[in-house]
Amino acid sequence: MSHTFTLAHLSDVHLAPLPPFTLRHWNVKRVLGYLNWHRGRRSVHSRDVLDRITADVAAQKPDHIAVTGDLVNIALPGEYVAARAWLDALGAPGDVSVVPGNHDIYTHMGGDPGCDRWAPFMRGDVDASAPPGQEPTFPYVRVRGRVALIGVNSSVSTPPFVAAGIVGKPQIARLATLLADLEAERLFRVVMIHHPPLPGLAPPSRGLEDAADLERVLLRHGAELVLHGHNHRDMLSWRDWRGGRFPVLGIASGSASRPHHGEPVARYNLVEIAERDRGFVMRVRSRGLDATGGQVIDLPRQPLGLGVVATYRAQ
Ligand SMILES: [Fe+2]
Ligand SMILES: [Fe+2]
Repeated sequence: MSHTFTLAHLSDVHLAPLPPFTLRHWNVKRVLGYLNWHRGRRSVHSRDVLDRITADVAAQKPDHIAVTGDLVNIALPGEYVAARAWLDALGAPGDVSVVPGNHDIYTHMGGDPGCDRWAPFMRGDVDASAPPGQEPTFPYVRVRGRVALIGVNSSVSTPPFVAAGIVGKPQIARLATLLADLEAERLFRVVMIHHPPLPGLAPPSRGLEDAADLERVLLRHGAELVLHGHNHRDMLSWRDWRGGRFPVLGIASGSASRPHHGEPVARYNLVEIAERDRGFVMRVRSRGLDATGGQVIDLPRQPLGLGVVATYRAQ
């Protein structure tokens, strides 16, 4: 990889507005979600703001875009259709990788395909030519240059007031194998997941139930970067493994028009990855709305410090 590979990371866009829905789609969780939306989030998540953010993403000409879930709000069929149109405008399925969030896998769907409508954006290279009706399988792997993008699904349908997630033993076992195989190929491994993937990064009612199991696999096999959303905040943790240190980086919502309960206004990250000597160098820039909510600018926040931040596996 002679050039710098740029990966844009966008999350929790919670597409607005909510489409109309009929009695057929009412259930307790959707009703509570609907009330919650109109009480608070409707005035936070803005389609206009999101459109400005995504226009800026396009202007940066990233090599790839990662979208780590919560594209919709209360799992109405019309929301999934709108989200598919938004994804199609963002880029080709091969250039945009999606993992679902808890709002995307939210409640029983009554036979509706839900976020399977986004399947072309959630398929690994081996399934790229799968027939349209085939469900995506997780974790999936896409290799772009010397970067391997690994999509993990942490979202399951839950009761009202619960936004917790679980990856599950089969996915965790498969992830361990994939990380080992991709390390052997000396690729820069990016793990994408909606829920914060380490213990203690979210309260139990909205955290990852098997975060300790997932962390164990990450510590054993390593990764070069882990990306997540869900908390609507900028977050950064580091973990050590035998090959070095890797950041676990969370990004706030890409559509927030104003601060809300400590959540900042809309932003996204640009991860620049370059191969140097026998390792990789990574830098992360944050872009988002300025203080007046007008322009999209380079934010003063530098998530991984200034300049060159890490060299990986330079053995
Ligand atoms: Fe969210
Ligand atoms: Fe979430």
